[in-house]
Amino acid sequence: MSTVPRAIAIAHPNIALAKYWGKRTDGHNLPAVPSLSVTLAGLATTTEVAFDAALERDELHLGGAAVRPDAEATRRVAGLLDRVRAASGRREHARVVSSNDFPTAAGLASSASAFAALALAASAAAGLSTAPEAVSDLARKTSVSAARSAFGGFVELRVGRPGDETLAATPLASADHWPLAVVIAVTREGPKDVGSSDGMRHTVTTSPYFPAWVASAPALFAAVRAAIHARDFAALGAAAEASALRMHASSIAADPGLLYWTGATVEVIAEVRRLRARGEPVFFTIDAGPHVKVFTTPEARDAVSRALLAVPGVLRTIAAVPGEAARLVLGSGSTSSA
Ligand code: DP6
Repeated sequence: MSTVPRAIAIAHPNIALAKYWGKRTDGHNLPAVPSLSVTLAGLATTTEVAFDAALERDELHLGGAAVRPDAEATRRVAGLLDRVRAASGRREHARVVSSNDFPTAAGLASSASAFAALALAASAAAGLSTAPEAVSDLARKTSVSAARSAFGGFVELRVGRPGDETLAATPLASADHWPLAVVIAVTREGPKDVGSSDGMRHTVTTSPYFPAWVASAPALFAAVRAAIHARDFAALGAAAEASALRMHASSIAADPGLLYWTGATVEVIAEVRRLRARGEPVFFTIDAGPHVKVFTTPEARDAVSRALLAVPGVLRTIAAVPGEAARLVLGSGSTSSA
């Protein structure tokens, strides 16, 4: 019997109210624009990392199935583990076992919770700092939005200064600052869309509207931030919808145009506008896929959910609320038989 350094972490997805879309061109996986998100409760990724001298390469198991060594997901996981090995002096490869309690196939944001959980578990297993700033920076180096899932509640990620190699998210307000309700309208169960990294790279390199997006994003970020401080629902909705629409406009204007929406996406936008005209507190945001994430209040949630389910093309809804930071459920240096 021998001991293996292992750890298990849980992290939650986040939804950006002020979007990140596009990387800076000076390397280090830094965002071109500031972003601000809400970490969700109700959806979770659990990830175990075990460093093991018997392994010949890093292994990734997702939802009970082994992922091919040459798959993009395995390559990204190994990249994060390489950073952990370089910082900790560990040399062993690791087995990574990860599962989501929400359907990954639906194309809902899962890379943020995945890389936040991986960064925390790998840091703990290797004996590195598990402070949220350190975990956030490590996660950000692989996937920018994952930096925000290191923290709970309302979280911001600035752009940093040119030349910086370190950039972590910072918490803006705790989950109980503002008990918003989120209803995700799932509009397709099928295969994944063009991934965020590829989609934004294509936008940065070919869209004449990308510079306009970068120019307008800081003011929208500031408006989202101020509305959260003031708990001003109407102001938050106006700024968040503008951020999502301008982000998508930059992609639609790429060459060739990149359109993440389906007919059902547009129908849900129209329904959200109808609900708002009737006085319901409601606004939408959309990420790199066809689903629509609708924010409302706890009181209005059930009525909003029923209205969205009645929209043609909406397959089902998923409910969530602001939630907690990534956390360890099994800590550093734990032993097990190997
Ligand atoms: C539309 O963080 O997945 O969800 O940094 O290349 O891994 P990489 O991209 P990713 O992009 C997320 C984009 C978004 C908006 C957001 O979450 O801010």
